[in-house]
Amino acid sequence: MSEIRAVISGVGACLPDRVMTNAEISAFVDTSDEWIVERTGIRQRHIATETEYTSHLGERAAREALDNAGLSPNDIDLIVVATTTPDYTFPATATIIQNRLGVYHGAAFDIQAVCSGFIYALKVVKNMVITGASKRALVIGAETFSRILDWEDRTTCILFGDGAGAMVLSGKADTDQGILSSFIRSDGRHKDLLHVDGGPSTTGTVGHVRMIGNQVFRYAVKDIARAMELCAKRAGLSIADIDWFVPHQANQRILDGVARKLKIRTQQVVSTVAEHANTSAASVPLAFYTAVKDGRIRKGDLVMMEAFGGGFTWGASLVRY
Ligand code: ACO
Repeated sequence: MSEIRAVISGVGACLPDRVMTNAEISAFVDTSDEWIVERTGIRQRHIATETEYTSHLGERAAREALDNAGLSPNDIDLIVVATTTPDYTFPATATIIQNRLGVYHGAAFDIQAVCSGFIYALKVVKNMVITGASKRALVIGAETFSRILDWEDRTTCILFGDGAGAMVLSGKADTDQGILSSFIRSDGRHKDLLHVDGGPSTTGTVGHVRMIGNQVFRYAVKDIARAMELCAKRAGLSIADIDWFVPHQANQRILDGVARKLKIRTQQVVSTVAEHANTSAASVPLAFYTAVKDGRIRKGDLVMMEAFGGGFTWGASLVRY
């Protein structure tokens, strides 16, 4: 019997309508458009309204991904949402989306690996699809990170935005498309460099993001580059083979640093950091979607995705689209 692959058969995305520019942020914290652009590449971010929840953004991205795949919600037997900003402590945002889509079979659950959540979710879902545990799955990265920012802390509030991206992963035989390899890692020793200072079991509040950005930066470039090399090697390929690099959109300087280290040309790097900022688990599927929609990423292209985030967690996923 031929091998089953987990193929990306649909993509979708959703950004809140409300855009917040650097100039707006400069009006309430001591920063400037020049500083933010020079240090991060970020020019603006989308911010959810009070009544716009992570599940709403995720649902809209999921519906578009289903349309794009030519499927209806009932064709799906698994929904996995990568998020650090769920609607509620429970139930999982995935089950809320499952209910709104009218899917009353199969399973739905959330994955929490902060900015690496989508890469983690891709690995888990790929394994379920290739073993036949799921035939067609929705993988969603959705965040309302604006809810856990300290809007008086200029070192973090400038960096993040809200949004969602989704992919349909379908099991297919006799194809060279699909996820070719994936790699995930974590290292809990670095909690103090990047964490949220609250939670249900500690403070009973959601808390706020705290980060020692310049130290996180150093780990990010090194670990991401290594993850991508390993991921390519596991597929019997090298970085020189990839057509597109779709990184987590944390900071343009990290994207450039990784690209330089691995000799990836600037034209191959998909960057949405200027418009979306860091949307945590939504950033990779949002960037992937952007490059599919504008015609850069085409069927058959070899695409390397990666992410790095709180935990630390990090990883990469190599896919033939
Ligand atoms: N405006 C103006 N000045 C600022 C701002 C701001 N918004 N923020 C910090 N500064 C100041 C600092 O106070 C510091 O001042 P000092 O020299 O007087 O002490 C100076 O700018 C330099 O600060 P650094 O932190 O060294 O600046 P850096 O160039 O490292 O940029 C940044 C900071 C953008 C946070 C960067 O370090 C970064 O992007 N780090 C990685 C972030 C990341 O990848 N996170 C992982 C994913 S996120 C997640 O998982 C939730």
